[in-house]
Amino acid sequence: MHGVWSSRWTFILAATGSAVGLGNIWKFPYITGENGGGAFVLVYLVCIALVGIPIMMAEVLIGRRARMSPINAMKYAADEAALPHAWAAIGWMGVLAGLMIISFYSVVAGWAIQYIFTAASGTFTGITGESAGGVFANFLQSKGTLLLWHSLFMVMTLGVVAAGVTRGLGAVARVLMPVLFVMLALLLVYAVIKGNFSAGFAFLFDFKFDKLTWSGVLKALGHAFFTLSLGMGAIMAYGAYMPAQGSLAKTVITVGVLDTVVALVAGLAIFPIVFAAPGLEPSAGPGLMFISLPVAFGGMPFGVLFGALFFVLVTIAAWSSAVSLIEPGVAWLIESGKFSRATATSLLSGVAWLGGVACIYSNNWLEDKPGGVFSFVFESLDFLTSQVMLPLGGLLIALFVGWFMRRAIVQSELDAEEHPLFDIWLFVVRWLSPLLVIIVLIAGLVEKFQ
Ligand code: PFF
Repeated sequence: MHGVWSSRWTFILAATGSAVGLGNIWKFPYITGENGGGAFVLVYLVCIALVGIPIMMAEVLIGRRARMSPINAMKYAADEAALPHAWAAIGWMGVLAGLMIISFYSVVAGWAIQYIFTAASGTFTGITGESAGGVFANFLQSKGTLLLWHSLFMVMTLGVVAAGVTRGLGAVARVLMPVLFVMLALLLVYAVIKGNFSAGFAFLFDFKFDKLTWSGVLKALGHAFFTLSLGMGAIMAYGAYMPAQGSLAKTVITVGVLDTVVALVAGLAIFPIVFAAPGLEPSAGPGLMFISLPVAFGGMPFGVLFGALFFVLVTIAAWSSAVSLIEPGVAWLIESGKFSRATATSLLSGVAWLGGVACIYSNNWLEDKPGGVFSFVFESLDFLTSQVMLPLGGLLIALFVGWFMRRAIVQSELDAEEHPLFDIWLFVVRWLSPLLVIIVLIAGLVEKFQ
């Protein structure tokens, strides 16, 4: 049993801190670009609404009920439902997925740290799309620098988790999340004035279904899980700190909507810049944000300051997400009674640090992609987590809550005894989300490997 956040808003901010991160600002735009835009975005939005948010409610509900780490929370919930402890596998897989994600997440957060300095040095002033691509490609060659920033970011993450996520983080999130949001909005204004806004807008919202493949649909589904920090226990671990009173459904919907708005604003800011600058392509891959935004910062008044500040905020957004990636494992180690919080955190951060080193030094950059910056390890970790483990974890959580948890317990946790929407939600969690996940998972994987 542990401490509780001071209020519902603190939970919203912390959960938003976990959800809003590189997934929204870096990953969403580039995978949208790689998958042809509009139709991909639509599938992503449908996945958020029909799969992500309903399953997020299920995940928070288990965490809040059990008030333990995901592994033990699943054991507790399994006991309550007279089911075997094998259900704790959801928690185990989540701990593993968290470590796998943070391995590459931390490396990309390191790119953002480097870009604080690159922006502050004035490198971007008047820069073209092509030279921005060159700056980024050069940077990726200096492995030592990548390693330095990855290491620093892991230490930052370790610091917060070691201090305990209920302390400090709430306050940080409360101030900085809104600031990040304002900066994104300003970038959007710039994109409207100076970018090719109509082309960017059309790219995001013109639904051309001929571009869409099953593996694209799986990417959209996987990203819905990734961006909401779902399917691996991160949100369950935070749910364990959530106050017992207050509407769980409203809280979760707030977080889901905020997260989606940030991703869309990031896309609306980035693509008009991409379409206005010669030498930039929407399909540029993982470097998209790091080559398109410099062009914008380089062309605006106070761009040096604004650019540096922007990357500071991206780093902080990544930081508050990274914390939630190792919290499930740390919480479990502490509950085992054998480790202090500091030791548990150091141990898991050490493992994650090694994973990042493997990403940086597994040298075979995938040559076949223009601007391909992912190493084999990088790409495999990303694929296995987003497109296999998180959807699978989410599926199991939905099945568990939908089919096996006692209805009375679920209703009282949701505070929904009389609520007309309860039955609709239950139907979604029992049938609709699981079926969608199963179909997309199978069809996507078959297409990818055939
Ligand atoms: N949701 C985070 C983002 O969009 O950047 C990434 C993430 C955090 C994924 C925590 C999974 C997780 F458990």
